[in-house]
Amino acid sequence: MNNDKHIYTIFGASGDLTRRKLIPALYSLYVQNLLPDKFIILGAARSPLSNEDFRNIMKESILNSNEIHDKSSAEEFLKHLYYIGLQYDNPNDYIQLKEYLEKLRSKFDIPGNTIFYLSTPPSLYKVIPVHLAAVGLNETDDGWKRLIIEKPFGFDLQSAIELKDLLLKDWKEEQIYRIDHYLGKETVQNVLVTRFSNGIFEPLWNRNYIHHIEVTAAENIGIENRGGYYDSIGALRDMIQNHLLQVVGLISMEPPSSLEPLSIRNEILKVFQSLRPLRREEVAKYAVRGQYISSVINNETVKGYREEKNIKPDSKTETFAAIKFYIDNWRWGGVPFYIRTGKRLPTRVTEVVIHFKPTPHFLFTRKNIQEACNKLILRIQPDEGMLLEIGIKTPGAGFEVQNIDLDFRYSELAHQRIPGAYERLLHDTIRGDNTLFARTGEVIEAWKFLTPILEEWSNNPNVPLYGYPAGTWGPKEADNLFDDENQTWH
Ligand code: NDP
Ligand code: BG6
Repeated sequence: MNNDKHIYTIFGASGDLTRRKLIPALYSLYVQNLLPDKFIILGAARSPLSNEDFRNIMKESILNSNEIHDKSSAEEFLKHLYYIGLQYDNPNDYIQLKEYLEKLRSKFDIPGNTIFYLSTPPSLYKVIPVHLAAVGLNETDDGWKRLIIEKPFGFDLQSAIELKDLLLKDWKEEQIYRIDHYLGKETVQNVLVTRFSNGIFEPLWNRNYIHHIEVTAAENIGIENRGGYYDSIGALRDMIQNHLLQVVGLISMEPPSSLEPLSIRNEILKVFQSLRPLRREEVAKYAVRGQYISSVINNETVKGYREEKNIKPDSKTETFAAIKFYIDNWRWGGVPFYIRTGKRLPTRVTEVVIHFKPTPHFLFTRKNIQEACNKLILRIQPDEGMLLEIGIKTPGAGFEVQNIDLDFRYSELAHQRIPGAYERLLHDTIRGDNTLFARTGEVIEAWKFLTPILEEWSNNPNVPLYGYPAGTWGPKEADNLFDDENQTWH
């Protein structure tokens, strides 16, 4: 691993992600002295911007970012920013890009180390890498070259395979970093640490002691200004194909033999290979989809999805998805996994709930079987932390039992800031550490798993799309995923 001098090139640099996440993350690394002494950030996009324009826009985003407190180095940092206008599909513009990179290198004494971050609409993931390779910007004789690809990687199995094949013609797997910002979250990484640094969990972490596992990623926001993107994608592709399956991978993987990237990624790949795809006839029952409809929240009318900007009035795109599925391997055989995500739910929370099996014999009176099951909750956001629900004796006569929470919150580590996900991942792209980036095989397996659902949802008009009022927990049919009527989402 290294922290070499380099040029960080961002395509789509005039866009939302660059402004809101990438530049503030790079600035934060700069403030912490985590960037090398010599580096350039080169924005590239079609918009006609001068270096000055680009710096001014990014200055604004740094000053407005809540994630960074120390803004005092902003001016110094901005001197490292440059901009080049180009058309993404014009071969001549890549010749000019190459010349400009060479000019910057020789001016600032930087070797050929270059990152190309594709922060563009996904349709350009097929275009930019091919043009870069055509002018030799994938070659490593003069320094490393890395290609960072945003999600979504493909639209379905077929397109993901095509994209994979296209990229691997010119780029080596180790040069490609498929970013999934959930893997950059401290609390997602903490799943790995909780499991493998504590002797007490691993012996219980299997089908013998775990009854079922839930993963929820709820958002109270709607689709904001991303209607054009979201309407062609939907919740399954936007959140489950990548973020939530990666979380499932970390919860359910076997212990890796080391912290080497390949060692960890191979274990996650094995989980993905063991995901049991739903049969077509199971989709309507075990993959519930919903779309929010207008409702009144706190005396304010909230628009339904179909009334949002850039959404077709008869759109069938799901804004909520919940799936029950199994992982067919020795550790997890028979343990149901329930995952759900949605926009315009009552609150923003992402958490994993491990439901342990009840005690084999009930000595104490409990209201229902669920009360006798311990739960471990890994709270990914907000209010990051961990909580173990256990039964204790209620003080007083007899043997009444009540459940209490052993609760840890990251906010209690007052002196330790939780770095943003992009900060961690961008730093890793510079250090050349791809542990927290999805590899080709995983992405393809994830698409394979979801294909029957995607096809059934799009081809079978009898599979319902349930409406749910904005501000509620999605369609009630998602509660029916649980076989036991006493069970429900946490
Ligand atoms: P934007 O829609 O803001 O697009 C980025 C830039 O791409 C634009 O500024 C524009 O630059 C160029 N562009 C936009 N549309 C087109 C088009 N039709 N043809 C060619 N160029 C176009 O995207 P974001 O910045 O929001 O996202 C970038 C990528 O990151 C996407 O793939 C998205 O899925 C992913 N992502 C975004 C997140 C976010 O919070 N925004 C979160 C997670 C992932 P110009 O016209 O100057 O060339
Ligand atoms: C993005 C999705 O990848 O993740 C968005 O495209 C979603 O739709 C976002 O809102 C959620 O990320 P976070 O970090 O806020 O949970």
